[in-house]
Amino acid sequence: MTTMSESLLRLLFLSLLLLCCVSPSSLSPIYINVTYPIVDGVACPPHQIQAFTQFKNEFDTRHCNHSDDLNGAWCDNSTGAITKLRLRDCLSGTLKPTSSLFGFHQLRWLDLSENNFTFSSLPSKFGNLNKLQVLILYSNGFLGHVPSSFSNLSLLSVLNLSYNMLSGRFPLVRNLSKLTVLDLSNNHFSGTLTPNSSLFELHHLRYLNLESNNFSSSLPSEFGNLNKLAFLSLSSNGLLGQVPLTISNLTWLTHLVLGQNMFTGSFPPVQNLTKLSVLELSYNNFSGPIPSSLLSMPFLSHLDLKENHLTVSFEVPNSSTSSKLVSLFLANNHFEGNILEPISKLINLKELDLSFLSSSYPIDLSLFSSLKFLAFLDLSGNNIYPASLSSDSHIPWTLEMLTLKHCSISEFPNILKTLKKLEYIDLSDNRIKGKIPEWLWSLPRLSTLNVANNSFNGFEGSSEVLVSSAVQQLEMDSNNFEGVLPNLPLSISIFFADYNSFRGEIPLSICNRSSLTALDLSYNNFTGPIPQCLSKLEIVELRKNNLNGSIPDVFYVGASLLTLDVGYNRLTGKLPRSLLNCSSLKFLSVDNNRIEDTFPFWLKASPNLQVLILSSNKFHGPISPPHQGPLGFPELRIFEISDNKFTGSLPPSYFVNWKLSMNQDGALYMAYEKNPYGIITYTYVDSIDLQYKGLSMEDQRILTSYSAIDFSGNRLEGQIPESIGLLKALIALNLSNNAFTGHIPLSLANLKELESLDLSGNQLSGTIPNGLRSLSFLAYINMSHNQLKGEIPQGPQITGQPKSSFEENAGLCGLPLEESCFGSNVPPTQQPEEEEEEKEEEQVLNWKAVAIGYGSGVLFGLAVAQLIA
Ligand SMILES: *[C@@H]1O[C@H](CO)[C@@H](O)[C@H](O)[C@H]1NC(C)=O
Ligand SMILES: *[C@@H]1O[C@H](CO)[C@@H](O)[C@H](O)[C@H]1NC(C)=O
Ligand SMILES: *[C@@H]1O[C@H](CO)[C@@H](O)[C@H](O)[C@H]1NC(C)=O
Ligand SMILES: *[C@@H]1O[C@H](CO)[C@@H](O)[C@H](O)[C@H]1NC(C)=O
Ligand SMILES: *[C@@H]1O[C@H](CO)[C@@H](O)[C@H](O)[C@H]1NC(C)=O
Ligand SMILES: *[C@@H]1O[C@H](CO)[C@@H](O)[C@H](O)[C@H]1NC(C)=O
Ligand SMILES: *[C@@H]1O[C@H](CO)[C@@H](O)[C@H](O)[C@H]1NC(C)=O
Ligand SMILES: *[C@@H]1O[C@H](CO)[C@@H](O)[C@H](O)[C@H]1NC(C)=O
Ligand SMILES: *[C@@H]1O[C@H](CO)[C@@H](O)[C@H](O)[C@H]1NC(C)=O
Ligand SMILES: *[C@@H]1O[C@H](CO)[C@@H](O)[C@H](O)[C@H]1NC(C)=O
Ligand SMILES: *[C@@H]1O[C@H](CO)[C@@H](O)[C@H](O)[C@H]1NC(C)=O
Repeated sequence: MTTMSESLLRLLFLSLLLLCCVSPSSLSPIYINVTYPIVDGVACPPHQIQAFTQFKNEFDTRHCNHSDDLNGAWCDNSTGAITKLRLRDCLSGTLKPTSSLFGFHQLRWLDLSENNFTFSSLPSKFGNLNKLQVLILYSNGFLGHVPSSFSNLSLLSVLNLSYNMLSGRFPLVRNLSKLTVLDLSNNHFSGTLTPNSSLFELHHLRYLNLESNNFSSSLPSEFGNLNKLAFLSLSSNGLLGQVPLTISNLTWLTHLVLGQNMFTGSFPPVQNLTKLSVLELSYNNFSGPIPSSLLSMPFLSHLDLKENHLTVSFEVPNSSTSSKLVSLFLANNHFEGNILEPISKLINLKELDLSFLSSSYPIDLSLFSSLKFLAFLDLSGNNIYPASLSSDSHIPWTLEMLTLKHCSISEFPNILKTLKKLEYIDLSDNRIKGKIPEWLWSLPRLSTLNVANNSFNGFEGSSEVLVSSAVQQLEMDSNNFEGVLPNLPLSISIFFADYNSFRGEIPLSICNRSSLTALDLSYNNFTGPIPQCLSKLEIVELRKNNLNGSIPDVFYVGASLLTLDVGYNRLTGKLPRSLLNCSSLKFLSVDNNRIEDTFPFWLKASPNLQVLILSSNKFHGPISPPHQGPLGFPELRIFEISDNKFTGSLPPSYFVNWKLSMNQDGALYMAYEKNPYGIITYTYVDSIDLQYKGLSMEDQRILTSYSAIDFSGNRLEGQIPESIGLLKALIALNLSNNAFTGHIPLSLANLKELESLDLSGNQLSGTIPNGLRSLSFLAYINMSHNQLKGEIPQGPQITGQPKSSFEENAGLCGLPLEESCFGSNVPPTQQPEEEEEEKEEEQVLNWKAVAIGYGSGVLFGLAVAQLIA
């Protein structure tokens, strides 16, 4: 038992994940040859201008740019009918079937993209516009199916429906035999691509984009019929199987984009596609060798094969054919033999990603010295030949981004000194010791530096050494930095220094870093007060330090604070009332301090608050609002107020109106996009480790649809409101060690996601609701120390609990207790004492084992275990 409760010590952990997706492909612009039919027109006669204005007035046109001469209507020079109409990025409202638009029968060109037709469906009246050659409706928020009347548009040459929310399957293009451009990307289209699909009758198609939909099937060999295609993208769907051989019929292809599907089999037969300039097969399950001939394809400039099971074993390309490759991405494949030699001949390379190639021998960086244009290099996850990182080694001085994450590097790579164009350096996850060299800060363009997860202990030079550097984002978390914090670069915007041993006060110089938006100093040994100026930031993480004083009460109206975590310090005083001004606040955690206050009902006005953690302080007084109604806080997902001195009872409607009564998405995050190229996306995700007893934590749960409530260790009394059963997304509920009375609410049986339920140490009476039997994810339950009686519901999740979960009650019987419900003659369950003890420990770690080990639960337990596995 002791082992169990120790391993279950409630531990709350909060961190700021930084997902940094470097996708440099946009460095090289990609040219797509699409020709649109030409529809000329002249200025329209007055009655047509009037008709056009009437159409516009069906909508809210406040966003229209009336001086934009690209928008408007054009008319046929002989008949005077409107033939071309373009209104982009301005209309707001519903496109109704009665719209006067569908009276413009002579329209040949219609562009209504980027309007706000949110929640409109595509009216079938579009079928009336059967002269249309060009129809552009992307980014309009259209919902539902494409009406079958579209097959009336038999002259259509260009159809762009991308970036809507359209659904349904082919044949939405039946009869559109003149189509040359079809863009259905970024919708919810689904179903299989069958051989008889109308798609394969589109013999004139030059551009086909089905990217980011839900198509799921193998590719029929009929793709080979589309032999005029120059652009084909099927990426980000659920497509599988082998790419058919007939793909080699598509000899006009310049772009073949099949990434992010589940394709298998050997490398697609692309050798004969001699016009190919972009080949993108990333994130699939292709296997076998990569054909060497790729490197000598005459126009291939962009080759992305990352995240497959391919074997990279290039031969030196024939020197007479110099490769055009500009981008080469091979990450996460296997490499055999010496591939670096041939790669060093690809002299036009600008972007090279060789990360995580499983290979045993180290990479010699100087082999890349011949790549005179190289700007982006990612060698993460490989061994690097140490001497090639020294300052007398040669790597191209053109490098702008260098990623050497997880390369077992143990000394600072002095070679960086020569790379004056570097903007981005990632050295995280290595074993570098000692101090960060002074010269690093004078790299003139350096804006992002990541040295997290190393063994650095300080900075060379004075405490001012960073100040004049150009660095905007500095990540140095999880190192051995000690002493006081150096003065940060004037340009700093994001600073992570958590998990170090910094001490002293948080320097006030931070207050004149006007670009600073995110600061993480958690898990250090900072002392003294929280500087007032931190109220200007978006993310403030100061967890687990020795800060004292009170939280500054200086949040001004319009403050952009999203996350404030000051847990585990020595803070006193009250919660600052000015937090009320932070209307974006999503995450507030002040646990394990000495804050003395009443419950912050006033925060109810923070419409976005998702996490409120007040545990282990000196809060007191009632937690139900004076008017005895619902608590409010509609977005709250994590609500933890344990170990305070809260009192009073919860009115019946207490949990009404919480959004978490619905399973909904909505991770707590914000994204930054900022970079000279616009190519690095920073996404912060607040995540929280909910260590309730029995909760199975594969990893940190990002706060999406989960929620948890912990009221334990207070002085709450009265009944547990039935409205608790409304919180359908609840995975953990802890009401233990209070003074709740009355019955256990029957509605608990509605909490189908519940994994952890603790009602122990109260004065609950009556029986345990039988409905709890059906909670199939329940891994931990504790009803001990109450006044419950009657039969324990005999479900596999419940009977598999240790006896202690039901001990000290007024008269419970049935498994797991030894007391039988059928009189005292029935012998107690025959479990040897030792084995029982063992299982008690196991159930915490792995409830599957328990379900298997206990009598009647066997079959059901197994089935559920497989479902959630
Ligand atoms: C673009 O496509 C058209 C039509 O197929 C063709 O005539 C033209 O040569 C192509 N242009 C380029 C630059 O490839
Ligand atoms: C409106 O359009 C004109 C012409 O295209 C452009 O110069 C101007 O910047 C636009 N104004 C706005 C507010 O978008
Ligand atoms: C109308 O336009 C066509 C083609 O642009 C031109 O040939 C014709 O002369 C024009 N007719 C008149 C009446 O302007
Ligand atoms: C789009 O329209 C809807 C209702 O028609 C409106 O609520 C929303 O604010 C509009 N959005 C924009 C960006 O104009
Ligand atoms: C097809 O177009 C014709 C002519 O405009 C029209 O009469 C007919 O209703 C349209 N059919 C559909 C299904 O929209
Ligand atoms: C298909 O297009 C032809 C004209 O090419 C048209 O006459 C016919 O009505 C269309 N069929 C359908 C089902 O709309
Ligand atoms: C369709 O519209 C999207 C969104 O603007 C654009 O990215 C795409 O290039 C368009 N497709 C074609 C073929 O023009
Ligand atoms: C197309 O073929 C599938 C089977 O591959 C069949 O179920 C479907 O009915 C066919 N559709 C048409 C329109 O022939
Ligand atoms: C397409 O390719 C297949 C096999 O590669 C071949 O049999 C067929 O004739 C080709 N079709 C066309 C239209 O070229
Ligand atoms: C490529 O072309 C050659 C010669 O035209 C032909 O023999 C070979 O079968 C083709 N390969 C593929 C995969 O289609
Ligand atoms: C933190 O600082 C306090 C006071 O300066 C000191 O007693 C304590 O040992 C330090 N803790 C750590 C982990 O360095």
